[in-house]
Amino acid sequence: MKTILITGGAGFIGSHVVRYFVNKYPNDTIYNLDALTYAGNLENLKDVEKAANYTFLKANICDADTIFSLFKKYRFDKVIHLAAESHVDRSITDPLEFLKTNVLGTVNLLNAAKFTWKNNFSNKLFYHISTDEVYGTLGKTGLFTETTSYNPNSPYSASKASSDHFVRAYGETYGLPYIISNCSNNYGPNQFPEKLIPLFIHNILKNKALPVYGDGNYTRDWLYVLDHAMAIDTVFLHGKISETYNIGGFNEWKNIDLVKLLCKLMDVKLGKVEGASESLITFVKDRPGHDLRYAIDATKISKELGWKPSVTFEEGLFKTIDWYLKNTTWLEHVTSGAYQKYYEKQYKE
Ligand code: NAD
Ligand code: TYD
Repeated sequence: MKTILITGGAGFIGSHVVRYFVNKYPNDTIYNLDALTYAGNLENLKDVEKAANYTFLKANICDADTIFSLFKKYRFDKVIHLAAESHVDRSITDPLEFLKTNVLGTVNLLNAAKFTWKNNFSNKLFYHISTDEVYGTLGKTGLFTETTSYNPNSPYSASKASSDHFVRAYGETYGLPYIISNCSNNYGPNQFPEKLIPLFIHNILKNKALPVYGDGNYTRDWLYVLDHAMAIDTVFLHGKISETYNIGGFNEWKNIDLVKLLCKLMDVKLGKVEGASESLITFVKDRPGHDLRYAIDATKISKELGWKPSVTFEEGLFKTIDWYLKNTTWLEHVTSGAYQKYYEKQYKE
């Protein structure tokens, strides 16, 4: 029986990881620690909130005293750390918030783990969830591998890179058993509508403009969120201590092509005439420091641990669109209040 702490479990990826673990490991105890920022939403976990092996802890990873006392009280054996500020555009507006949560917050967790485990690291694990954005940008060719040098370009990716370095440093310096995985862009149910795919689904539903940054010729590698959750489980079970694993969908799309495909699928789903959603595309001012291309080489996790994505992009997009169409109340809840202010500020001319 293990005691597993998942941080950021009320967010997009975290909620899928929590659900997956709660259902798959009935004999383990799963703690979900989350501050419930604008991105955290317990509605994401309604179906598991009463499970006997699940407990929610409302706490901020920046609050060292609280984090220490929770480690002392619950004696977590394994940590899967997802809590973070995660949106590049917000990091451009407010870098300090990203430094606090992503760097200080991570170091607080590392200190609490190190202190509580008191150098008795057998069967302990600090598994840090990170992003491919730490590698910076690719040109038109090439792929990120686990040995690509870090070269972050946004305050978000700089803060994640820094947190990765701290995790590795605690491994080298104190012997803390860690694993890091760096994943490409996720999409799927429960993603906050500030990221490209849910924002555009939301705007199509509201008949609002689809703001494509620059010329739209930026490339991302997309992975369905449940495939990421399953990759995390695979690394958690079989990953080697002190190793890094890149996780990706082998699925590169230029933004403009992705947006056009999404528009087509939405027209079909909504019974609109072909081209109706595409007519909402508006090219807007580019994101400063916009990375041209991300693409992951996921050979290591695939060869060494046997993981590969289970759904195609079309299947994943269909499931995603279906979920947003069925969960309009969720969408209304998360887009009320503070979100309106963010949207007006981010997309003003
Ligand atoms: P998200 O923004 O949807 O969720 C983040 C969660 O962390 C929220 O529930 C929020 O309440 C919580 N949180 C934020 N600050 C906190 C704090 N100070 N204390 C406690 N909880 C706090 O993010 P996501 O997209 O689910 O990403 C989860 C993790 O995966 C992040 O570490 C992110 O860097 C990484 N990642 C994301 C992607 C992606 O495409 N979304 C890709 C690769 C890696
Ligand atoms: P995003 O979902 O913010 O993820 P990331 O920046 O972490 O890759 O953006 C994905 C791509 O879509 C990125 O190239 C920026 C672009 N984009 C737009 O063109 N318009 C938008 O309104 C948003 C949010 C993103």
